[in-house]
Amino acid sequence: MIDMMEHPIRLIVNALGSPPRSLVERAHAKGIKISAMAGAEKHAIRHIEVGCDFVIAGGTEAGGHTGTTTSMVLWPRIVDAVTPLPVLGAGGVGRGRQLAAALALGCEGAWCGSIWLKTKQSEVIPEIKEKMFAAGSEDAVLTRSVTGKSCRTLRCAFTDAWETESAPEPLGAPLQGLLWWSQGRTRVERVRAKEF
Ligand SMILES: Cc1cc2nc3c(=O)[nH]c(=O)nc-3n(C[C@H](O)[C@H](O)[C@H](O)COP(=O)(O)O)c2cc1C
Repeated sequence: MIDMMEHPIRLIVNALGSPPRSLVERAHAKGIKISAMAGAEKHAIRHIEVGCDFVIAGGTEAGGHTGTTTSMVLWPRIVDAVTPLPVLGAGGVGRGRQLAAALALGCEGAWCGSIWLKTKQSEVIPEIKEKMFAAGSEDAVLTRSVTGKSCRTLRCAFTDAWETESAPEPLGAPLQGLLWWSQGRTRVERVRAKEF
């Protein structure tokens, strides 16, 4: 089994819940900082209770799994809930002005995700990168069709199909994710492999 603690890492960030106390203790014993994503104050308080060093407050604007509270509302609430521990603001930060907004609302910095998907270093395939560059903010949708949990992603034929009246409810996680991977993502990769 691979033990991440054997690598020279500086930070562990937990998503979809608080890290177990045992992980927090192991991380701290090695001088590694530990944090977790929070979409609501109650998540942030739980993260602090288990010993996280700081919290990442992710507003609904964030790509990936996200709640329904906007960054503008969520960031200061989480700052107030966990003070004096630091908060990073996530969700919709792609420009300096948005970073300035996070700082103005009491965050110590920002945590970005979507912006990295379009970089040279990103493993996203060029065809999807092109779609991301061409997309406007109105092309991002909050859907359960990709993983079974509320997730913000770029609208596509797959997400649209799950919005139609005749569509069934998405499965729970992790089953819907397996469906998306086999019926959506893998097909895209397969078509690409044939054409390019
Ligand atoms: C494609 C994608 C996958 C993500 N996967 C994870 C993940 O596995 N774990 C996690 O903590 N956050 C994940 N995130 C969320 C990011 O860590 C980050 O909080 C979020 O992207 C910040 O908002 P932004 O996309 O507006 O910059 C993901 C984001 C994207 C866009």
